[in-house]
Amino acid sequence: MVLDVDFARSQFPVFQRPETAAWAFFENAGGSYVPEPVIDRLDAFFRWYKVQPYGPFESSIIAGEAMDAGYQFVAQWLNANDDEVTVGPSTTLNGYVLAQALRPQLRPGDEIVITNQDHEANIGCWERLSEAGAVIRRWEIDPATGELALADLERLVNSRTRLVCFSLCSNIVGTFQDAVGVAEIAHRVGAAVVADGVSYAPHRLADVSQLAADVYLYSTYKTFGTHLGVMWIRRELQERIVCQGHYFNRDKARYRMNPTGPLHAEIAALAGIGEYFDRLYAHHFTQQETNPRQRAERVFGLVAEHETRLAEQLLQALRALPGIRIIGQTHAREGRRAATISFVSARQRSAALARSLALRKICVRNGHFYARRCVEALGIGDPDDGVLRVSMVHYNTQDEVQRLIDELQACCK
Ligand SMILES: Cc1ncc(COP(=O)(O)O)c(C=O)c1O
Repeated sequence: MVLDVDFARSQFPVFQRPETAAWAFFENAGGSYVPEPVIDRLDAFFRWYKVQPYGPFESSIIAGEAMDAGYQFVAQWLNANDDEVTVGPSTTLNGYVLAQALRPQLRPGDEIVITNQDHEANIGCWERLSEAGAVIRRWEIDPATGELALADLERLVNSRTRLVCFSLCSNIVGTFQDAVGVAEIAHRVGAAVVADGVSYAPHRLADVSQLAADVYLYSTYKTFGTHLGVMWIRRELQERIVCQGHYFNRDKARYRMNPTGPLHAEIAALAGIGEYFDRLYAHHFTQQETNPRQRAERVFGLVAEHETRLAEQLLQALRALPGIRIIGQTHAREGRRAATISFVSARQRSAALARSLALRKICVRNGHFYARRCVEALGIGDPDDGVLRVSMVHYNTQDEVQRLIDELQACCK
C-alpha cells in the first residue's frame, strides 16, 4: 500500500484554491501547511468560546475541554505521560526556559556538549550557561558531509559532562542522527540528553519511551499545526529542575516550565492534527485500531516510504546536474535521511536560484536557516546566501518534484 497523496491533499484548504494550489511548496521545514481539522478547531475557539478556560460557566468549560484535548493529543502523539509535556510558544523559547531551569544545578567546570550542526535554538541557550561557569564542548561536523560521528562524541564526554545537546535531524543536512547511540554515550557518564526534534517530527513519529533522550523538543507549526513548541522532559529530570512559572504553579506540570502561560486557542487546535492523521488512517486501513498512537504509527509508515521516494527522485536528478554539491547523504535510504535536501551550485548563487524558481511558482528558500554555524563549517563562503533548501513532506507529489527538477535542469545547465 502507498500513501494516497491526493486524499491527503484534499484535507488541506490551501490545495483546494487554484491560486495557492498552483505553487509547488518546498519550504515545509520553515512551517507546514495546515489541514482542515486544525483550522476548524482554531476557528471554533475564536468564534465561540474565546474566554479564559477552566471556569464554571459553559463557554469556559468548553474552552478548557478543547485545551485538554490538545494537551492529550500531544502526550499520546509522543507516547509520553501528561505531566512530562510543556506546550510553550516555540522551541527556541522552550530551550531558553529549560536552560534557565538547569542553571542553578551547574557548578563551575561542569561541561555541556553542543554541536555546530544544530539550529541556534539548541546552541545559544546552552552557550549562555558559560556565564554560570559551564565549560562548552563542541561536537563538530565533518566539513565535507555535514554529519556528526559518534566516535567524536565519545572523545568529548567525561565525568564532568552534564548535558549533551543535539538534533535528531539537522534542518540543513537532513541525516537522521542515531539518538540511542548519543544517549548511550551521554548516560554512561551521567549526562542528560536534549534532543531537538524540530526537523525530525514532520517526517517520523518519535516515541519518547524509546528515544533514550531526557528532553525532546519540536515545533507544532512544522507538523501541520498551530505555532507552538512542545517540550517533553523525562519525569526524573523534571523533578530536579527549578520551576520557571509562578511559584504557586510549581506543582502544575503544564505551567512549571512555561512562564508565558498557555496559548489557549492554539493549544486546542492541536487536537486537529490527530483528527487529520485519523482521517488518513481510516482512508488507508480497514483494521479497527483503538489506540490513536498506533493509528498514527501506521500512517507514518506510509509517510516515510513516500518521502523517501520523493527524496531519491530529487537526489538522483541533483547527482546528475553539473556543479551541484549535495549536503549530507546523496542517496535516500529509509531511516537514513529526511526529505530535507540542501545543496549549492558552483555556477549560481543560492538566492538567484531561489528567485528563478519563485518566478516559476516553486517555493524554496536559501540561507543558513539559523543553522549558521553548520553552513559556515561546511565551508560555504557566504552563509547568508547559504544553501538552497528543498524541504518536502508527505503532501508533496512526484509531479511537483519533477517540475522542480525540470526547472533546476534549465537553470543549472
Ligand atoms: C532544527 C530546528 N530546531 C529548532 C528550531 C526553532 O524552532 P522554533 O521556531 O519553534 O523556535 C527550528 C526552526 O526552524 C529548527 O529547524
